[in-house]
Amino acid sequence: MSLTPPGRFISLEGLDGAGKSTHLAWLTGQLAARGIDHLVTREPGGTPLGEKLRELLLHEAMHLETEALLMFAVRREHLAQVIEPALAQGRWVICDRFTDATYAYQVGGRGLDLTKFAALEQWVQGREGGLLQPDLTLLFDVPLEVSRARLAGARELDRFEREQDAFFERVRAAYHARAQASGGRLRVLDASQSVAQVQADLAAVLAELGVA
Ligand code: TMP
Repeated sequence: MSLTPPGRFISLEGLDGAGKSTHLAWLTGQLAARGIDHLVTREPGGTPLGEKLRELLLHEAMHLETEALLMFAVRREHLAQVIEPALAQGRWVICDRFTDATYAYQVGGRGLDLTKFAALEQWVQGREGGLLQPDLTLLFDVPLEVSRARLAGARELDRFEREQDAFFERVRAAYHARAQASGGRLRVLDASQSVAQVQADLAAVLAELGVA
C-alpha cells in the first residue's frame, strides 16, 4: 500500500562500501534529465537537527537502545520537516537509507529486540491506513569482501564502519530477510557487478516506475 501520493518515495540501502553514492548520483541524474522534481536526502540526517544527531550517532559510543531511539528521533524530524511536505507537493524523495537500515544495523547487527523496533517503527511511521514506507527500496547487495575492499583506505572510518566482519554478516543477512518479507518493496540489486551493469538493472527498475 502506498501512503505517499502524489510524490514517489525511494530509499537506497546496502552495506557501507556497496557503491550507494555512485548509484544515487546516477539515479538523480536520470530523474533530472526527465524533469522530475526531486529531493535528495539522507538518514541519519536530512534536517539541521538530524545532521547534528548524525555526528553523535557516527562518532559517540552509546547504549544500543539509545542508538535505535536516536535513529528514530532523526526520522521523526525528517518525516515532519522534509519528507512528508515534499511528497505532498508531488516531489520525489530519494533518501539515502531509511528504516530498513535500522532493521539491518540495529536489529540484525546489534541485536535490538524486534518488538521494540516494531513499536518505534509504528510510532514514527504509523499513519491512518498503515505504515508510511518508501514506495520502493533499492538494496545494493555486495558480499562482505567487496564492501571491505571498497572501504579500505577511503577515509577515517566511523563507529559502524569499524565494526567486525561478523557484525556486517548479520547486517547483510537482516537486509535479505527484510527484502524477503517486504512483498516486493525492497529490490535486491547485485552491486558487485560493474557500475554499467548495475545502472542497466536500475534503468529496468525505473522503467517499472514509468521513468523510461
Ligand atoms: P551512511 O554511511 O550510509 O551515510 O550511513 C551512516 C551509517 O549509519 C551506516 O553505517 C549505517 C548506519 N545506520 C544505522 O545503523 N541505522 C540507521 O537507521 C541508519 C539510517 C543508518
